[in-house]
Amino acid sequence: MKVLIIGSGGREHTLAWKFAQSPRVTEIYCAPGNAGTARLARNVPIKADDLMALAAWAEDVGIDLTIAGPEAPLVEGIWDVFATRGLKVFGPSKDAAQLEGSKSFAKCLMEKYDIPTGKAEFFRDLDSARDYLRSLEPPYVIKADGLAAGKGVSVVPDLGLAEAAMHDCLVQKRFGSAGDVVLVEEFLEGPEVSLIAFTDGKRVIPLAPAQDYKRVGDGDEGPNTGGMGSYSPVPVLDAATYDEVVKTVLEGAVAALAAEGLIYRGVIYAGLVLTPRGPKVLEFNVRFGDPETQAILPRMKSDIAELALAAAEGDLGDLAIEWDSRPCVTVTLASAGYPGKYQTGFPIRELEAAEAVPGAAVFHAGTATRDGEVVTAGGRVLNVSGLGKDFAEARACAYEAASKINFDGVYYRTDIALRVS
Ligand code: GLY
Repeated sequence: MKVLIIGSGGREHTLAWKFAQSPRVTEIYCAPGNAGTARLARNVPIKADDLMALAAWAEDVGIDLTIAGPEAPLVEGIWDVFATRGLKVFGPSKDAAQLEGSKSFAKCLMEKYDIPTGKAEFFRDLDSARDYLRSLEPPYVIKADGLAAGKGVSVVPDLGLAEAAMHDCLVQKRFGSAGDVVLVEEFLEGPEVSLIAFTDGKRVIPLAPAQDYKRVGDGDEGPNTGGMGSYSPVPVLDAATYDEVVKTVLEGAVAALAAEGLIYRGVIYAGLVLTPRGPKVLEFNVRFGDPETQAILPRMKSDIAELALAAAEGDLGDLAIEWDSRPCVTVTLASAGYPGKYQTGFPIRELEAAEAVPGAAVFHAGTATRDGEVVTAGGRVLNVSGLGKDFAEARACAYEAASKINFDGVYYRTDIALRVS
């Protein structure tokens, strides 16, 4: 089986690593990939958003299954483009991918099918949005409706900042047409959990839950990032709440999409807040989480290729996933200055020493190869995952491996999974 993985981050390297363990998989390609994927796959120099070029290339090579890492190709309709050439994509159709591509679509679906979520109102003009905002209590949550590269959500403590965020979207057009509509949403308080599942459009097979760390600094200080670490499982999600969420949120959403006549096969990701009034959906995504995937897949014993192909073909049958009971902790190594300005091109040293730590795996994110040497090429550079018999051991493993790696300006949080260790 020939597999194409689209994207170039830590999530995509982890997917390539997991697919490489499948006896069914003969060849793996990554478009465009990074220095890590180059070691176990062939990198193809086609951008993740060039759907026509990707489809033409995949048809030429005879790719059996394509997995889109990031959301953009899915929301742009890679499933539909590939389907016209008879190519299988593990992911939803363009219409179904609105679940992530349009927050108002997701909110309306949840309201129509009784999937628990925070209250929200949508606005196209600033005056009515402002009037509504004044009827609410802080903190205020303002979201651009469309994809905004992870920058479209503002949670602010006062009216002035909330109005500025809405002005940015609706008047300044900071996010282009993705900000033509804004959502003003109820603030949800409580621990967050990411629950991701495979689906064939009929049934769901949940993956192990994970929690990610979005702020750049220890103690959740500083600006939001693409993710500074993660861990799996999530002890705060008890068995009864897990069962409730699988039924009402994951199975509920898949049934809702099917009832709307939409084709959804691939991954469904519920970002949840465990509020005092029960679990509520903060957002749905239509792809694997990053860096949750880096903490989930090292715990998965089953063959991902078998599951992904069955889902893409629309029949998961009675497949199930077997899990390693050991927890996994993932630490992100970033470039100094990230998520603001940072420099790239610094040689990365001692990767092999990190990989030699028992229980550790190093997944590349922003890396490239220059003159045979691995160098930094992004804000988030590497993810180091560690397995252990308990969280304390998994955390010690990840941090021991992380501490061996060095490049100019390397930065990482020191408190990943501390709360559960
Ligand atoms: N870790 C959050 C996300 O992948 O959206």
